[in-house]
Amino acid sequence: MKKILVTGGTGYIGSHTVVKLLEANYEVVILDNLSNSSMEVNERINFLANKRFDFIKGDIRDKKILESIFKKYQIGVVIHFAGSKSATESDINPLEYYENNVIGSLNLFKEMLKADVKKIVFSSSATVYGEPKEKKCKENFPLLPTSVYGKTKLIIENILTDIQKANHKWKIINLRYFNPIGAHPSGILGEDPKNIPNNLLPFLTQVAVGKREKLLVFGNTYNTFDGTGKRDFIHVEDLASGHIAALKYLEKVDEINMSFNLGTGKSYSVLEIINAFEKCSGMNIPYEIVDKRLGDISELYADTSLAKKILGWQAKFNISQMCEDAWRWQKMNPEGYSTASS
Ligand code: NAD
Ligand code: WQD
Repeated sequence: MKKILVTGGTGYIGSHTVVKLLEANYEVVILDNLSNSSMEVNERINFLANKRFDFIKGDIRDKKILESIFKKYQIGVVIHFAGSKSATESDINPLEYYENNVIGSLNLFKEMLKADVKKIVFSSSATVYGEPKEKKCKENFPLLPTSVYGKTKLIIENILTDIQKANHKWKIINLRYFNPIGAHPSGILGEDPKNIPNNLLPFLTQVAVGKREKLLVFGNTYNTFDGTGKRDFIHVEDLASGHIAALKYLEKVDEINMSFNLGTGKSYSVLEIINAFEKCSGMNIPYEIVDKRLGDISELYADTSLAKKILGWQAKFNISQMCEDAWRWQKMNPEGYSTASS
């Protein structure tokens, strides 16, 4: 059986996906430089799935490592998560983002070509749409990312399109995630940002666990029912299942280059999320309304009909389950993965 190379497989979304892949009896090789994850994740994946997999500590910018992986293993398909993901940080360090995301991906695709591996599922993002005219976003909307991070995702999608134009045998699926939150229902895997969290949920759970004093709510004058920003939050477990659906679809078709929105199709405001979290955790979340964050939009949610129709996939978890699982993870691991050694 050919193996699946999972770049960034010890990261937040990657680790949840690897567990599902192993549970579905796929054979997995992870390549991760641990820049935003830790070795402990491998122990936890192993504990949950109880199946063997290979882990290689290495960087997608390192051609030699990539070459040696494609020589050593019979890789059938790549799931490409590895990259840097903060929109704010990307505008401060654009070159780092272009190098890690674009150059790293380019190296990977070149080595895939050399090794005759032509199947890939790529982690794209809803951020490629920028601020669309309509809140409910379809895959064929104009792609106008505003952050450097978003631009790197669009560049990678475009590179993949050009590769497929040159050789129709390539099979490419871009998954455009909306706002991933939640954690493995066991509380054993979750999101563990290395620095101050940029995203809403990890910040909120760190307030709940007492690591941070209060949540800053970025603006309450958006054109939404309560004035706070609205997003399509999706459980990371649903995202992980979306990758299995994408892999199955790749096996069924002779050629493909398609992008799919992975979201729930519903949006919740920041205040609704605080409320839902308070209900399921029984905790009080102190918060303060502050200025809008530069680059934020008022509302965005996915039109999920394409993924449902073509991949047969749709999100199953609701917002309470997302909050419950995020809270269980944070409570069980107040210091994230370093809780295990502290
Ligand atoms: P993450 O940071 O938890 O995972 C990324 C993993 O890639 C980390 O383990 C990191 O160590 C590794 N990595 C980074 N650069 C690398 C390199 N050069 N070589 C090898 N490994 C490298 O992020 P995540 O939330 O799991 O996101 C996974 C992917 O999904 C990313 O590509 C991200 O841009 C994309 N995405 C994330 C979100 C989100 O909000 N989390 C939304 C849309 C898209
Ligand atoms: C959600 C809402 C904030 C933090 C980002 C990336 C995007 C994608 C997902 C990777 C907004 C508000 C947040 C806080 C707050 N990632 N907020 N206080 O901005 O939709 O998207 O993550 O691809 O590319 O840009 O997600 O979780 O940061 O914010 O009030 O401390 O919560 O203003 O309305 P966002 P987010």
